[in-house]
Amino acid sequence: MATFRLFLAALLLFLSCSVFSVLTANFYQDVDITWGDGRAKILDNGQLLTLSLDRYSGSGFQSRNQHLFGRFDVQMKLVAGDSAGTVATFYLSSQGNTHDEIDFEFLGNLSGDPYVLHTNLYSQGKGDREQQFYLWFDPTKDFHTYSVLWNPSHIVFYVDGTPIREFKNRETSTGVAYPKSQTMRAYGSLWDADDWATRGGLVKTDWSKAPFTAAYRNFTADGCVSWGGNGGTSATSCANAAAGSNAWMRQELDSNGTERLKWVRTNYMIYDYCTDWRRFPRGVPPECNASD
Ligand SMILES: *[C@@H]1O[C@H](CO)[C@@H](O)[C@H](O)[C@H]1NC(C)=O
Ligand SMILES: *[C@@H]1O[C@H](CO)[C@@H](O)[C@H](O)[C@H]1NC(C)=O
Ligand SMILES: *[C@@H]1O[C@H](CO)[C@@H](O)[C@H](O)[C@H]1NC(C)=O
Repeated sequence: MATFRLFLAALLLFLSCSVFSVLTANFYQDVDITWGDGRAKILDNGQLLTLSLDRYSGSGFQSRNQHLFGRFDVQMKLVAGDSAGTVATFYLSSQGNTHDEIDFEFLGNLSGDPYVLHTNLYSQGKGDREQQFYLWFDPTKDFHTYSVLWNPSHIVFYVDGTPIREFKNRETSTGVAYPKSQTMRAYGSLWDADDWATRGGLVKTDWSKAPFTAAYRNFTADGCVSWGGNGGTSATSCANAAAGSNAWMRQELDSNGTERLKWVRTNYMIYDYCTDWRRFPRGVPPECNASD
């Protein structure tokens, strides 16, 4: 009997990955609060999570599950009023020094001045792929949905269903590494970055306005859940298992998506590393020149 149990456990470890859809979001079951000493709170029976920041600490949470590919959505309502110096985040990341990471970071501002949505993407430990946007709404008035689609062919960042950024897998044509073998967790955090966030660090956090609070709702991760840790066979089998039945695994931008993406980039993009020739005097990174 004990041997059979061992065998079963081994089998489960081997099949360390299953395809899994979370339909009802609940922060009690889906995330762990990882830092902030009581500044992060789960409320309303798990429907709401608030993070707060004061001069002593920020706070944060991470998803219990690790995923390889998937569609990740969260609704956020950002720090209202004078939020200069604060940064609220929603991101995916793997572990280790050659980690992969997909970032949404919301840079606060003085009352009435616009937030900046700062995005970045790391593959095999290499980042430096910042793109920044203004939003077409006030992100402090209501909850809005921020999403990442991550499959073997591309990563798409969405705001309320509108694609704002696409990073294609061009490993074959450019040699630029694409995140595809390290499992990632989702994270949220609220912290102080007044050395760089607002007007490049010129505007400091006004601690007399603290505590600052950001709220999260309806976090869903529809993807392949991996219990096998980073990389290796488990990740591959996870990808194979997921390939079968899931829309997100093959989802592409349709013509409307492509139009919307163009609209955002024409009207709301304020910084693109791909056009920062001063920063890359010897030429912008290879993924910037790909024409497909
Ligand atoms: C186009 O996409 C937007 C979201 O980006 C959506 O609100 C709209 O309904 C879509 N239109 C069509 C015709 O599919
Ligand atoms: C803050 O507001 C200023 C003035 O409108 C703007 O230049 C800047 O991009 C805004 N955002 C940040 C994060 O500095
Ligand atoms: C929660 O998120 C899911 C997936 O993004 C979405 O289908 C659903 O409408 C959201 N629910 C609410 C109450 O916003």
